[in-house]
Amino acid sequence: MKNAIIFGVTGQDGSHLADLLLEKNYKVIGVQRRSSNPSSQRINHLSNNGNFSLVEGDITDSHSVLNVFRGIDHVDEIYNLAAQSHVATSFKQPGLTWDITGKGCMNILQVMVEEGMFGARFYQASSSEMFGSSYSVSRDGVKYQDEDTKFLPQSPYAISKCAAHYAVRLFRQAYDLHASAGILFNHEGPRRGDNFVTKKITNWVVDFVVWLRDNLLAIEDLIYDTDYIYGKTLTQKFPKLKLGNLDAYRDWGYAGDYVNAMWLMLQQEQPDDYVICTGKTYTIREFLDGAFNYVNINNWSNFVSLDQSLYRPAEVEYLRGNCDKAKNKLGWEPKYNLDMLISLMIDSGLNDKLQNYARHI
Ligand code: NAP
Ligand code: GDD
Repeated sequence: MKNAIIFGVTGQDGSHLADLLLEKNYKVIGVQRRSSNPSSQRINHLSNNGNFSLVEGDITDSHSVLNVFRGIDHVDEIYNLAAQSHVATSFKQPGLTWDITGKGCMNILQVMVEEGMFGARFYQASSSEMFGSSYSVSRDGVKYQDEDTKFLPQSPYAISKCAAHYAVRLFRQAYDLHASAGILFNHEGPRRGDNFVTKKITNWVVDFVVWLRDNLLAIEDLIYDTDYIYGKTLTQKFPKLKLGNLDAYRDWGYAGDYVNAMWLMLQQEQPDDYVICTGKTYTIREFLDGAFNYVNINNWSNFVSLDQSLYRPAEVEYLRGNCDKAKNKLGWEPKYNLDMLISLMIDSGLNDKLQNYARHI
C-alpha cells in the first residue's frame, strides 16, 4: 500500500485529492493547521475511513514540517497544495502570502533533502497566475499560455507562486529530487471557497432562487434600486450580487478532473512541469450569462451591481491554457466544460439548500 501526505488537505483540491488517492487504495495522511474552529467540512466524509488520518502541521514552520515527516514511517508521495490562495487577499496580506505560498514550499523541499527523503515524489501546486500579463500567440493569432510562456506575475500571490515554482526546478536539478509542478488554470466546483468569483455567483443564484420560492415571487413581480431587489411588499428584500471586474478572461475547469492530473504527474518516471487547463476562455460576464440562464433568467443586469472595492490593484486580464503536453505525456484531458461546471455548482447548491430547508420545516 502506498503512503501519501497532503499539505492543504482541508482545501478544495486537497479534499478531492484525498478522495482520489483513497479510491486508489493509498494510505493518506492529511496535514491540517491549527484553527480555533473546525476547518474539516470538506473532509468530514472521510472521518471513518481507516486509511485516512490527520496530523497537525503548518508549512510556515520548518520544525512543524520536520515533525510531520518524522511521525510517519515511510512516504511515497508528498503533495503541497497548502497556500494563501486568494489573489485579492494577497495584496492586503503580502507578507503572510509570501510565508505560506512561497517560503512554505521551500521549507518542505529543504526538509525532504535534510531528511534524505530522495525516494519520495513531490508535487507543487503552481498556478496560471504566474503568467500574469504574459501570453504566447499561435500561428492563427490565438493568445494562449503553455509551459514555454514566460512569467510576468501581477500579484504578491503570483510572485510567491513563482518563487515556489523555481524552488521546485532548483531542487530537482541540484538534488535530483523527483519534484514536479502542475501549472493549473482556475478550477472550481461545489467545494470551491465562497469568496472566489464562480462560487460567489453560483451561491448568489442559489440563494436568490430559494428566496423567490420562499416569497412566492416571479421575476415580473420585482422592483430594483442600486443595492437591493424588492418583492411586491417592500419588506421582501434581497441584496444585489456585488462584483468587481467583469471583463477578465479565465480558463475554468472542474477541480475533480484536475487532481487526477496531479497524481499522473507523480506516476511518471521523470519529474517535470505541466500546464493543466481546458483550452477555452470566458469572461466573468459570460459566466454570469451561463449561471443566470441556467435558472431561466436571461438578463442579469438588474441583479448585479459593481463594487469598486472588489477591483484589484493589478489584474490578470487573459488566461487561456494549452495543455498539449499533459494530453500527450500524461494522457490527461479535462472532462467538464463550462456549462457542465455551472450546472454542477448550481445543482449542488440547490440540493444542499433544499435539503436544509426540508430539515427545518
Ligand atoms: P484552498 O481551498 O484555499 O486550500 C488551501 C489549503 O491550504 C487549505 O487546506 C488551507 O488550510 C491550507 N493552508 C493555508 N495555510 C496553511 C499553512 N500555513 N500550513 C498548512 N496549510 C495551510 O485552495 P485550492 O483551491 O484547494 O488550491 C489548492 C492549491 O492549488 C493552492 O496552493 C492554490 O494556490 C493552488 N491553485 C489553485 C487553483 C484553483 O483554481 N483552485 C489554480 C492554480 C493553483 P485551512 O483550511 O486551514 O485554511
Ligand atoms: N474573487 C472575486 N470576487 N473575483 C472577482 C469578483 C469578486 O467579487 N468580481 C470580479 N472578479 C474577478 C477577479 O478580478 C478576477 O479577474 C476573476 O474574477 C477571478 O477571480 P477569482 O475567482 O478570485 O480567481 P483568480 O483567477 O484571481 O485566482 C484563482 O485562480 C488562480 C489560477 O489562475 C485562485 O484559485 C488562485 O489560487 C489560482 O492560482
